[in-house]
Amino acid sequence: MSQQNMLSSVALRGFSLRSSSNSKSSNRNRSSSVQLSVPAQYLRNYSTNIPATAKIVRYETSGSPKDVLKFQTEPLPKSLKPSEVLIKILAAPINPADLNMVEGNYGIKPTLPAVGGNEGVGTVLEVGSNVKRLKPKDLVVPTKPGLGTWRDFGVFNETDFEKIPADIPIEYAACSSVNPPTALRLLEDFVKLKQGDVIIQNAANSSVGISVLQFARQRGLKTINIMRMRPDFDELVDQLKQLGGENTMVVSDEYITTPAFKRLMSDSKAPILGLNCVGGETATEMARILGNNGVLVTYGGMSRKPIKIPTSLFIFKNLQMKGFWLTQWLKDHSAEEREAMRNKIFQAIKSKDLTLFLETWEFDKFPAALERISDPTRFRKVVLKTQ
Ligand SMILES: NC(=O)c1ccc[n+]([C@@H]2O[C@H](COP(=O)([O-])OP(=O)(O)OC[C@H]3O[C@@H](n4cnc5c(N)ncnc54)[C@H](OP(=O)(O)O)[C@@H]3O)[C@@H](O)[C@H]2O)c1
Repeated sequence: MSQQNMLSSVALRGFSLRSSSNSKSSNRNRSSSVQLSVPAQYLRNYSTNIPATAKIVRYETSGSPKDVLKFQTEPLPKSLKPSEVLIKILAAPINPADLNMVEGNYGIKPTLPAVGGNEGVGTVLEVGSNVKRLKPKDLVVPTKPGLGTWRDFGVFNETDFEKIPADIPIEYAACSSVNPPTALRLLEDFVKLKQGDVIIQNAANSSVGISVLQFARQRGLKTINIMRMRPDFDELVDQLKQLGGENTMVVSDEYITTPAFKRLMSDSKAPILGLNCVGGETATEMARILGNNGVLVTYGGMSRKPIKIPTSLFIFKNLQMKGFWLTQWLKDHSAEEREAMRNKIFQAIKSKDLTLFLETWEFDKFPAALERISDPTRFRKVVLKTQ
C-alpha cells in the first residue's frame, strides 16, 4: 500500500472512532460499543476522548517548505509505553529555524520523514505507568528541538516535555522557549552590561529583537535598533519605542550608512555589544559602530549573506566576534539554570514586561499560514492553534 493510501485509510479509522465518541456513554463503554464494528487492533486504551489519528505537517525530503511540507494524518499508538505521555499540542509557532530545518540548512539534521516545528505548547492527556514528572492536564513545552510540534496530538517520552505554569496565555507559552530565552542570554552572557550602557542590534522587529529591547529596558540600557526599510516603517518605529521606552533609538539599515548617522554616533556613547541576526552589510556597519573592545554576537543569518569585517577593527579597536546557539546553551547548562531562565521569562510575561507580537492561524489552515510567512509586510509571528 502506498504511503498516501495508508494515511487516508488511517484517517478513516480515526473518523469512525471519533464519531462513536458522540455517544454519551463512558469511554470504556464507548470502546466496547465500537468493538462491534472496528477490528480490535484499532481500539484505543486511552481513557479520554482522543481520535485514533493525529494531524501532522510532515516532510519526507529536505527542500523548499512550500514544496515538501504535507498536511497528513498518522495513526496514534493504541496505548502508551511506561515512560510515554500523550500530548495535545495547543499552539506552535512557525519560526525561521523551523523552515531552515526543513530546507536542510540548520545545525540539526532531522531523521526523515520528520514532522516540522520545534517550539510549542501542549497539554498532557495521558501518562504511561512509570511517568513521574508529568500528569494529565499539565501545560507543557518541549525540552529540546526536533520533536515535531506541527501536529495536534503526539506520543512522546516524558523527558521531551516539561511542565510550565498554568496561567501563561497559550500563544505566549507557545513562543516562550526559543526567542525570549535567546534575548536574555544575548544580554547576559557576553558583556557585563550596566545601567546606561548602549547596545545595538539589527532585525530589531524580530521576535528576538523585541524581546531584547524589552529586557534591555528593564536593565536601564540604551538600545540602537536597526530595521529594514518597509512601507509601515514609521508605525513600527512607534511600536518599538513603546516597548523599549525613552532610551530606544530606531533607525533603518539605509540610514546607518549615512554621514548624518555617523555624526550622531560620534557625539554619543559608543555601543559595547552588537547583536547580529542578519549578516551582510548591516553586520559590517554594526561592527564599525561598536566602541573599543566591543563584542559582536551573531545569532541569526536572515539575509543569508556572509559577514565581512575590516581588518582594522580587529587591530585598532580589538573587536571581538562571537556566536550564540540556544540549543547548545541548553545542553551545556544544568536543569536549575534552565529553570531559572524559564522563570524569568514567565515572570516577564505575567507582569506584562514582555510583549510578543503574534497572530494566530488555525492549524488546519497550515498552507495559508505558511504562505503568510513570506509576506514582506508581515511583522507578527505566525502561531498555529489546534483549537
Ligand atoms: N542562535 C539562536 O539560538 C537563535 C535563537 C532564536 C532565533 N534565532 C534566529 O534569529 C533569527 C530571528 O528569529 P525570530 O524568530 O526572531 O524571527 P522573526 O520574528 O520571524 O523575524 C525575522 C526578522 O528577520 C528579518 N529579515 C528577514 N529576512 C531578512 C533579510 N533578507 N534581510 C534582513 N533582514 C531580514 C525580518 O525583517 P523584516 O520584518 O523586514 O522582514 C525580521 O526582523 C532567525 O535567524 C532565527 O533562526 C537564533
